[in-house]
Amino acid sequence: MNIQTQIQLKPFNTLSLDVITSHYIEVQSQQELVDALAYAEEQKLNVMILSGGSNMLLPKEIHALVIHMNIQGIEDISEDEKSKTIRVGAGQVWHDFVLWTTSQNLFGLQNLALIPGLVGASPVQNIGAYGVEASEFIDSVQVYDRYSKAFVSIPVSDCKFSYRHSIFKDDPNRYVIISVTFKLLKHEDLKLHYGDLNTAVGEDRTALNLQTQVIQIRQAKLPDPKEYPNVGSFFKNPVIDESVYLKLAENFPNIPHYPQPNNQVKIAAGWLIDQAGWKGKKLGTVGMFHKQALVLVNYADANLKDVQSTYKAVQQDVYAKFGVSLEPEPVLYNEEGLIIKHNVITG
Ligand code: EPU
Repeated sequence: MNIQTQIQLKPFNTLSLDVITSHYIEVQSQQELVDALAYAEEQKLNVMILSGGSNMLLPKEIHALVIHMNIQGIEDISEDEKSKTIRVGAGQVWHDFVLWTTSQNLFGLQNLALIPGLVGASPVQNIGAYGVEASEFIDSVQVYDRYSKAFVSIPVSDCKFSYRHSIFKDDPNRYVIISVTFKLLKHEDLKLHYGDLNTAVGEDRTALNLQTQVIQIRQAKLPDPKEYPNVGSFFKNPVIDESVYLKLAENFPNIPHYPQPNNQVKIAAGWLIDQAGWKGKKLGTVGMFHKQALVLVNYADANLKDVQSTYKAVQQDVYAKFGVSLEPEPVLYNEEGLIIKHNVITG
C-alpha cells in the first residue's frame, strides 16, 4: 500500500487552493480501497474521498487520509431493443465518457458534455445542465458501504435524487462510490427545451451536433479551470415558494424563473448576483466571473479564507437587495477532513 504523507492537493482541486494533507493514497481497485480504509481505521485517521476535486472547498491543512478514487473501466451489462446498460468506473473522466457514449451511438448524456469531474462524483450532487440531470440515465450506483463494510449496488429508486442532491449527500461518510451503472438510449431523443439550445442546434438535429453546441455554449460562458480556477456554479439556484416569488416579481419582474413541483419556483442565482453588482467584481484575489456571475474564480493563490470572504460578501449583498439566501454548492471540509455545513445568511 502506497500511503504518502504531506501531499500538496493544489493539482487535485479545480479551485487550485493550496492544501497540504497529512496522508494520501490513490486507489485503483476495490481491494485497494478496502485496504486503505482499514489503514485509516487502524491509524485512527478520518477519511476524505477525493474524486475530480471540482466541487470542493478545502482548508490549508488537512489531517486525514485522503483517498483519491481512480478505478477505471467500462463494462457492458445488458442490452435490449431500446437501451444498453453499462457500468463505468468512478475514476473515468466524465466528459471523456460522454464523448465515448456519443461515439458508440448511445444517447441521453449529450446535454451534460464538458461538465468537469469524474464519473464517481456524478451521482453525488446529481449533476445537471441544459435540461437534463444525470439521474435520468442512472440505473444503479455501486458503493462500498462503510457502515456494513460490504460492497452493495443501490438502485436508482433508492438514491433519493433531486436537484443537486442525493442520498450520497445526506450521509457523506457512509458510501464510497466505486462505479455507476447507466442505462442509455439506442435511439436519439434530443432534449432541446433549455434556453437557446433549440436555436443553437438549428437544422442539424443530431445528438452529435447537440453535444457540439453544448460544448460551445459552455466554453463561451464558463471559465476553463486551468486558466481561471473554479468549481463551476458556486451557488445553487434558490428554490422558493411561489408566494415569495410573486412578491419579489412585483419589484423585479425580469428574474429568470422556472416553475417547480409543489408550488415552488427556482430562480437564477447568476441573475441575482449579476444584479447585485458582482459580475466581474473581485474582493482581493477572488471574484465572480465576468461572463457568468454564478462562477467564483480564484484569480491568484487564494486560500479558503479568501474564498469565504468573497462569497459571504456576495451572499450579503444578494440578501440585502432581494431577501434571498444563496446556498453554496461545493462541499466544505474542515481540517479533520470532515464535511461541514455552510452558514446560511438570513439577514
Ligand atoms: N444570468 C444573468 N447573469 C449572469 C448569469 C446568468 O443574468 O451573470 C441569467 C441568464 O441570462 C439566464 C439565467 O440567469 O437567464 C440562467 O443562467 P444560465 O442559463 O447560464 O444557467 P444557471 O442557472 O446560471 C445552471 C446550472 C449550471 C448549468 C446551467 C445550464 C446550477 C447551480 N447551475 O446555471 O450548472 O450548466 O444551468 O443548464 O444549477 C454547475 O452546476 O456547476 C453548472 C455549471
